[in-house]
Amino acid sequence: MTANLHDMSMVIAGGGTMGTSLVQIFSQNHFQVLLYSRRESTLQKAKETIQISQQALVDQHVLSKEDSDALMRRIQFTNDKSCFSGAGFVLENISEDMPAKHVFWEEVSRLVPEDAILCTNTSGLSITEMAKAVYHPERFCGMHWFNPPHILQLVEVTKGALSSDETAGTVMELARQLGKKPVKVQKDIPGFLANRLQYALLREAAHLVETGAATLEEVDLACSLVIGMRYACFGPFRVTDMGGVDIFNSVSDYLFADLCDDKDGSAYMHRLVAEGRLGLKTGAGFYTYDKDKIPELIRERDTRYIKMVQCMDSFEQ
Ligand SMILES: NC(=O)c1ccc[n+]([C@@H]2O[C@H](COP(=O)([O-])OP(=O)(O)OC[C@H]3O[C@@H](n4cnc5c(N)ncnc54)[C@H](O)[C@@H]3O)[C@@H](O)[C@H]2O)c1
Repeated sequence: MTANLHDMSMVIAGGGTMGTSLVQIFSQNHFQVLLYSRRESTLQKAKETIQISQQALVDQHVLSKEDSDALMRRIQFTNDKSCFSGAGFVLENISEDMPAKHVFWEEVSRLVPEDAILCTNTSGLSITEMAKAVYHPERFCGMHWFNPPHILQLVEVTKGALSSDETAGTVMELARQLGKKPVKVQKDIPGFLANRLQYALLREAAHLVETGAATLEEVDLACSLVIGMRYACFGPFRVTDMGGVDIFNSVSDYLFADLCDDKDGSAYMHRLVAEGRLGLKTGAGFYTYDKDKIPELIRERDTRYIKMVQCMDSFEQ
């Protein structure tokens, strides 16, 4: 196992939603971290987003203003690929597209030192398949975070067929040193754990709105007030035990057959994407947003998540 992770030079590659948030959690835990992205404009936007996220942490008393300022100073930004030649750890956060990831790893795994640890934050692409482009794939594995990773606690670590136990062990340890709760995913399956669960729900949620059973707002409310609240306290198995396995079993017997089982993605989301409705980043997704209010929405999101994490931490004491 790597002796001191804090001696490693950490490079987060891809300056979009995830990369921008990830550099903050590395820096908050006193790692020297570098955000690499291809375009200067992406890095500029990343700096602005980091300011907004940091303000929410300061407002919620998670960090003092001084600690937040020091955190910002520890983050470096670059669009120069030479940063990889000194990297001890690389976490890739580029677009969720296997050919693009292959091109990235083909090049980057040859630029880094041979003992560097290499991770992808893919939401669910095969680690084994991605590793085909990685030079020395034993040092490569999945390290999957959840948006916004500087606040949410879970990290999934997935080994591909060629990843070594030592690599996975080091990445689990790194997640702990970043103050997170890592879980090891035992099989390299599409979507790993949490996304399989989340997407099973999203498929049914979109289906309910598409078929006119409920509005977007009603589905969102039902998720927050019942499913989200229960599952924040306990997982599905404990919730079922509390309600009675016999009852949940009887409901499953008539309900499973009626649930959406679309196999080709979501027609609803296909339409949104074709219309350029990509969510906050384009000002509209399922809902439409006032572009001027988007920074405020991100602040509000961060504030709610911070309060939830604080609340969940209090359960464990
Ligand atoms: N958004 C989420 O909720 C979320 C959660 C967990 C994991 N992920 C995964 O993280 C990865 C990134 O997602 P995101 O939401 O940050 O995407 P994003 O679209 O916000 O950002 C991706 C960034 O990567 C850049 N990029 C693309 N190709 C590149 C390359 N070859 N080199 C350097 N930069 C490149 C793009 O210009 C963009 O700035 C994806 O694999 C995604 O599945 C996303």
